[in-house]
Amino acid sequence: MGKETMSGISGGGYQEAWRRSISSPEDFWLEAAAGIDWVVPPTSALAVDGKATGSWFPGGTLNTSFNALDRHVLAGRGAHTALIYDSAMTGTRVQLSYLDLLGRVAKFAGALRATGVGTGDRVIIYLPMIPEAVVAMLACARIGAVHSVVFGGFAATELAVRIDDARPSVIVTASGGLEPGRTVEYLPLVEKALTLSQGSVHTVIVRNRDSIPGSAANYQDRPDTDAVWLDWADEEAKATPAAPVALHSDDPLYILYTSGTTGKPKGIIRDNGGHAVALNWSMRNVYNVGPGDVYWAASDVGWVVGHSYIVYAPLLAGATTVLYEGKPIGTPDAGAFWRVVDDYKVKVLFTAPTAIRAIRRVDPDLLELEQHDVSSLTSLFLAGERLDPETFHWANNGLHCPVIDHWWQTETGWAICANLLGIEELPTKPGSATVPVPGYDVAILDSAGRPIEKIGTDGNIAIRLPLPPGTLLGVWGSEERFASSYLTAFPGYYATGDSGHFDADGYLFVMGRTDDVINVAGHRLSTGSLEEVLTLHPAVAECAVLGVHDPVKGQRAAGFVTLKAGSRVDHTVLTAELVALVREHVGPVAAFRDVTILDRLPKTRSGKILRKTIRQIVDGEEYLVPPTIEDPTVLDDLKRALSASVS
Ligand code: COA
Ligand code: AMP
Repeated sequence: MGKETMSGISGGGYQEAWRRSISSPEDFWLEAAAGIDWVVPPTSALAVDGKATGSWFPGGTLNTSFNALDRHVLAGRGAHTALIYDSAMTGTRVQLSYLDLLGRVAKFAGALRATGVGTGDRVIIYLPMIPEAVVAMLACARIGAVHSVVFGGFAATELAVRIDDARPSVIVTASGGLEPGRTVEYLPLVEKALTLSQGSVHTVIVRNRDSIPGSAANYQDRPDTDAVWLDWADEEAKATPAAPVALHSDDPLYILYTSGTTGKPKGIIRDNGGHAVALNWSMRNVYNVGPGDVYWAASDVGWVVGHSYIVYAPLLAGATTVLYEGKPIGTPDAGAFWRVVDDYKVKVLFTAPTAIRAIRRVDPDLLELEQHDVSSLTSLFLAGERLDPETFHWANNGLHCPVIDHWWQTETGWAICANLLGIEELPTKPGSATVPVPGYDVAILDSAGRPIEKIGTDGNIAIRLPLPPGTLLGVWGSEERFASSYLTAFPGYYATGDSGHFDADGYLFVMGRTDDVINVAGHRLSTGSLEEVLTLHPAVAECAVLGVHDPVKGQRAAGFVTLKAGSRVDHTVLTAELVALVREHVGPVAAFRDVTILDRLPKTRSGKILRKTIRQIVDGEEYLVPPTIEDPTVLDDLKRALSASVS
């Protein structure tokens, strides 16, 4: 206790740090592990045991919630602000000190335990951006329960799929959330998901938000499920605070589902020890943030960015985290982000490029920025999708601080490539996520798994094993799926599913996915799962869903369908039904609106849908008519259908 919470890089700049992390990973990561308070400190960094990617800090035991809260209080920083909650949706502003947050977490951990939740049990958290989301996550961590946060924009069916996979005993939810213009009704969604799923859930705990009109918790009226429905406030009030339990470094902390190429999401498993060490290290070395600094990740706790950089990393580092319930525009205006930066003197802001594009569309001359003092801001970090050079230049010219693109995935949990401001700020290159973060040995491979030596040539981006601490431990419930999704394509490497190239200076340019995953407003979606939904419609014979260019969201999902012979449906009605079907089965997050109805889909002679050609035509790019095309006139039909839907 009382020791430095950050471990810095000893001497030298970026190159030396990266080389050391690869040539002496044991020393490098054991040194970083000293930034965490262990119950039993580890004596080695990585054990290459039976697990495909090894386990970090074998023998070490710790508690992540203790590291995020108790240790700061014990070090005399209990009065320091841990969490700032700012709701642009309700006008609520609350600040919780480390002592306040610890008190709430310990009590809610006791409440969870009173329902029978113990170490290793799963708890689903389906909440809006309110402090209870953070409390519930840390409470699970405190008693060794494994949380799985489900983003509020997913529908009941998606929630049910996650329930069936994670088999939670408890769901924590709220009586309502607020999206611009509507209330998100969580309770009917939970109720429906429970009826669709296999029945592992025995308790639902509801946070009553009576400040939201029409959302008072009427959970007593939901007897159709087998679960007991409890009120959060009652349970918290009567709970006995729970002490943190010591967990093995590789015990699971959470499961976070992400889209793969199939309709079934993958449950990414994160450990306790590797995660705490890596995130704590990243705060100082990637973001240059430490105790007392205000750090704001404008994302959602339902995504990995929210897990890592709204909840865990800033608190592990003893910083102040901002939990913002609102949008970059419209709540109330395009100055919302600058207002929050000004109000709380935010040092580092992290968001997705789509948020910046949304602000730019509404306020191209950054007039709203002039209304606020944002001089506290030392950097703007962006991730979640490629930062297009145009958006980079606009933000970089308009703000007084560096704009940093960094690349990562749900699977890695923290940045694979970045400009490491805490070690050495490198010159930025528009379109590049800069350089590999220490611990990540990034390679560009051809389809046979051979390194592509030629600089500037795109290939599959892979990471040589072992991955650094903090990255995925596996896929929940399936070693086989873990291996087949990530490890078998290129033996000895983790396959990222992204493509790109290095330039002569070692800067990485991530250009796009090699699979059917698309990125809509920084949200990862599987086109395969959207296609599965469209084919549920009785009139649909075949379909293809593609990610096409969108000026604000980066990509949007566009559906192309053919009808069964003899189907007589009005096209406008069918489009509305398909849009509603996706909303019902996947959720509003898919933002699915575009449907083009065709007589035939463009295909090769062997029956493969020409997705790339369709996308190029929709995006107005130049394209070559593939020599294998079954019938080139189908492309003319496609163009006619597209221009008819535009006019
Ligand atoms: N709960 C319930 N519904 C949600 C939701 C949530 N937490 N988040 C979004 N939705 C809904 C929205 O209300 C919208 O529904 P609608 O069809 O009824 O309008 C739909 O999902 C699509 O939302 P979104 O993709 O966010 O689009 P938008 O037009 O509402 O806003 C942006 C566009 C760019 C402003 C918004 O996407 C944004 O702020 N992005 C920030 C980036 C981000 O958080 N990325 C996460 C990874 S870093
Ligand atoms: P998610 O798991 O939802 O965070 O999505 C991860 C995917 O988003 C990556 O595999 C990339 O395809 C994309 N992505 C995230 N950050 C970047 C970035 N900085 N540059 C390019 N693509 C990115």
